[in-house]
Amino acid sequence: MSTHIGAAPDQIAPAVLMPGDPYRARWIAETFLEDPVQYNDVRGMLGYTGTYAGVRVSAQGSGMGQPSLAIYAHELFSDYDVETIIRVGTCGGLSERVGVRDVVLGVAASTDSAMNRARFGDVTFAPAADFELARIAASVGEERLLPVVAGGLFSADQFYSPAPEVTSTLAGYGVLGIEMEAAALYTLAAQFGRRALALCTVSDHLVTGEETSAQERQETFEDMVVMALETIVR
Ligand code: HPA
Repeated sequence: MSTHIGAAPDQIAPAVLMPGDPYRARWIAETFLEDPVQYNDVRGMLGYTGTYAGVRVSAQGSGMGQPSLAIYAHELFSDYDVETIIRVGTCGGLSERVGVRDVVLGVAASTDSAMNRARFGDVTFAPAADFELARIAASVGEERLLPVVAGGLFSADQFYSPAPEVTSTLAGYGVLGIEMEAAALYTLAAQFGRRALALCTVSDHLVTGEETSAQERQETFEDMVVMALETIVR
């Protein structure tokens, strides 16, 4: 096992879907994976492995925020040789180019976190999705007629922002959605030479004030999880 994941090395698949909410990891495993086996419950951060269309896939919760995601993504890459992580989450809409229920395919992730300052000093690293993964996900989305919009995410450290003017500046630069994890995921994938992508359904909209009902959020999330799984098996 690694420090925060109580699995034997071969219990985790090379491809992992990573929702923030550990109960969503359980739901993904129970809904879409054949013969799912739970490999982790350390700190309640549930992780499962099963198969989808004959391919081994794991679903691992990340928790909220970059420090939490970074613990799990780091250990998956360093201790379990995971090759691909697709974050499946939600984001707040920042741009009129997206509406609630759209899926933002995060090609890049800006951040206000100090995490990359500790890595790169004054250099502003550009955390980006794996191009091949993004390309495949975009075509899966197109084939399934899903409302996918590709563009930038903003990985914020604080859900309750003390500086909302920053998000409107970012929206002016084409950033589509605000969430709290993608930048750390992309940075760690770059560090370990692995593949990562963040897909986020727009659950609420900071500009238009639109919101989704619990049922709508569930349906959209379901479509997006299938999109992520199809991306992995392609
Ligand atoms: N901020 C940060 N993360 C989010 C939001 C938000 O408004 N909506 C969904 N995830």
